[in-house]
Amino acid sequence: MARTDFDFDKAGNETLKTIRERHSVRRFTEEDVGDDLIRQLLDAANRAPSAENRQSWRFLVVRGRKKEALAALASKRAAGFPRPASVLLRMAARTISAAPVVIAVANTGDLIRHGREVFRIESGETRDFFRTMEIQSSAAAVENMLLAAASLGLGAVWLGILFLIKDEVLELLGEPNGEFMAVVPVGRPALATSGPKKRPLAAVIKEIE
Ligand SMILES: Cc1cc2nc3c(=O)[nH]c(=O)nc-3n(C[C@H](O)[C@H](O)[C@H](O)COP(=O)(O)O)c2cc1C
Repeated sequence: MARTDFDFDKAGNETLKTIRERHSVRRFTEEDVGDDLIRQLLDAANRAPSAENRQSWRFLVVRGRKKEALAALASKRAAGFPRPASVLLRMAARTISAAPVVIAVANTGDLIRHGREVFRIESGETRDFFRTMEIQSSAAAVENMLLAAASLGLGAVWLGILFLIKDEVLELLGEPNGEFMAVVPVGRPALATSGPKKRPLAAVIKEIE
């Protein structure tokens, strides 16, 4: 790997600064987050790379009574799971309830339906391939959304635990044919927190020549 002594982060690179500073936020103030800010997050998410540029994500912006119903659903269903899933579901319910806005991400499965024609693959099992591409594309959109939130001084967290009750979540949000990707509560951070420590870079790099 080419090494450089130049520190882009210290040199004021805003993107790298946002990446470094982003961390999951699970507690919010009561302050609302206006539609203009939410639109910025969705625009950032919609600009993510996606397989075949399909953009087969759907962003469901949830507020008010539906948001409370989502929190109540997570809280009610928590009892049916062993720890730590039940603890995480209850925590997710509290975070959803505290956030002024929740953005759920569902995938339409467009590439799964049309992938064979697009890639002209006739034989073999391709569903895994297309489904993986869809999930990775939606994940890129979620990460863009989290980074945009951090850059705007907002807090957000990716709640994957709701996958355990995905059918009920999608039904509640009126997207029964979508595939559950993520639920992201968004708000103003209640506390000045920092994220957990990351493994050192050296522990995750293998150099191959
Ligand atoms: C796919 C995925 C699923 C996650 N699901 C949850 C979740 O259900 N509940 C939660 O509190 N955090 C969840 N997180 C957030 C992680 O706990 C968090 O990203 C991790 O601890 C690192 O902390 P950081 O985001 O502050 O860097 C999820 C993150 C990812 C990428």
